[in-house]
Amino acid sequence: MTGKAKVVSVRLDRLLANLGYGSRREIQMLARAGKVVLDGAPLHDADRRIALDPDLPARLTVTGKPLDPLPGVALMLHKPLGVTCSHKEAGPLVYGLLPPRWRQREPALSTIGRLDKETSGLLLLTDDGALLHRVISPKASVSKRYQVTLDRPLRGDEGAIFASGTLMLDGEEKPLLPVTLEVHEPTRAAVTLTEGRYHQVRRMFAAIGNHVTALHRDRIGALDLPADLEPGQYRVMGEGDLARVFGSGSSDP
Ligand code: URA
Repeated sequence: MTGKAKVVSVRLDRLLANLGYGSRREIQMLARAGKVVLDGAPLHDADRRIALDPDLPARLTVTGKPLDPLPGVALMLHKPLGVTCSHKEAGPLVYGLLPPRWRQREPALSTIGRLDKETSGLLLLTDDGALLHRVISPKASVSKRYQVTLDRPLRGDEGAIFASGTLMLDGEEKPLLPVTLEVHEPTRAAVTLTEGRYHQVRRMFAAIGNHVTALHRDRIGALDLPADLEPGQYRVMGEGDLARVFGSGSSDP
């Protein structure tokens, strides 16, 4: 759960239907068949109200498997290249990396911001609208770090241009907020920015006559993409992970 809201209760059939387990009628049938079990005892009555305790997924099983994460979940995903952050575009979508049932959830999981199809790295998803807005709100100034590979060697003045707060992107009317550049090699660098303008990193380098050939996001706030999270894998975030997104907490696991 992403918040410390007080425990509320919900009808079992509604809870499971909203988590994508089927229609309320199908869930009634599952319950009658003894396939929904709470604390070891079958729940035959799907009309029954259940307290949404954070530990419910550890106590309730459906067809022998632990309940999916309750509403209010946040995920970190290692986005691979070639998948799109969209619910409806053609081709492979990030939502296709989640279990099929998770795609039926109501409220739906959505990405917190987007990465381009040809950008890899740390992508957050949530069904919690308030959390989503907290992360993307300009007021929160959550930083994002990208590892960039360039077509041409850096000249040396790019860091000052990005830091100046005066760089204009093509077709825009407001200059970019300052961006930090760390040069690793002549054609490899990291940029850290707090805005999230469309194709921002690629357009920043295009604005100064270079071209991004590979882009990977490895950090949001103080949350690093875990080294053991392979491309295409995801993980449910805990309170410590969320605190790191907002800049607090250690970056140790
Ligand atoms: N900037 C880009 O150009 N692309 C991304 O995916 C993210 C930031």
